[in-house]
Amino acid sequence: MTYQAEIRVWRGDMTGGGFATYQVEADEGEVVLDLVHRLQATQAPDLAVRWNCKAGKCGSCSAEINGRPRLLCMTRMSALPPGEPVTITPLRAFPVIRDLVTDVSFNYTKAREIPSFAAPQGLAPGEYRMSQEDVNRSQEFRKCIECYLCQDTCHVVRDHEENKSAFAGPRYLMRIAELDMHPLDTADRQKAAQEVHGLGYCNITKCCTDVCPEGIRITDNALIPLKERVADRKYDPLVWLGSKITRRR
Ligand code: SF4
Ligand code: SF4
Ligand code: FES
Repeated sequence: MTYQAEIRVWRGDMTGGGFATYQVEADEGEVVLDLVHRLQATQAPDLAVRWNCKAGKCGSCSAEINGRPRLLCMTRMSALPPGEPVTITPLRAFPVIRDLVTDVSFNYTKAREIPSFAAPQGLAPGEYRMSQEDVNRSQEFRKCIECYLCQDTCHVVRDHEENKSAFAGPRYLMRIAELDMHPLDTADRQKAAQEVHGLGYCNITKCCTDVCPEGIRITDNALIPLKERVADRKYDPLVWLGSKITRRR
């Protein structure tokens, strides 16, 4: 069944902009990115939008649909209120380059601030076997497609540009948690999580978890355990010392 959908797209650049309203043909089963492509093909060839895989795997097509951070390629038109206009806006937490394309370099900066995995010295390949439990834990975090929807939705930076320098955001606090939980990592992650990467700003609202297209339980499985580890260390330094000694064995 073909029908006419009304879509309102934010058009503009870093100097300003506003909404443009279009009537676009839609077919049953289509996703919002299909309509954006049809709009580009028929009415707005200069509309800027970022996408690559159209399969929910590259993390490029992040935007806000009816005010909620989502992937354009994974949001079915049938999942939106029927007969109502669909509003598409760029990610609010990052500066607009043009139309739906934002400058997400904040995330690359935060990624570079986290020291990489620090293996124990002298451990040869094959000398250590990870338990399946440890493997499963990090595999959940490694499903991340770096779409930055969690970074966009987190209230700590969404409306507070001033917090960006002191807060890594859920995606990168999750990376720190992953490394801190790794049985062989020797770096001191917990002190930096609190003092450099802003773990204390997170008040576990779970908004990041709610928008994650990979279903990663960011708050429950990464942020809360990391907070608990930091608290354990603060109130019982022997806990931290013991974990380090165990790791190096
Ligand atoms: S749980 Fe923490 S990191 Fe996630 S959205 Fe809430 S404040 Fe931000
Ligand atoms: S954790 Fe989820 S929401 Fe955040 S960047 Fe990764 S895939 Fe996207
Ligand atoms: S185009 Fe790759 S996730 Fe949407």
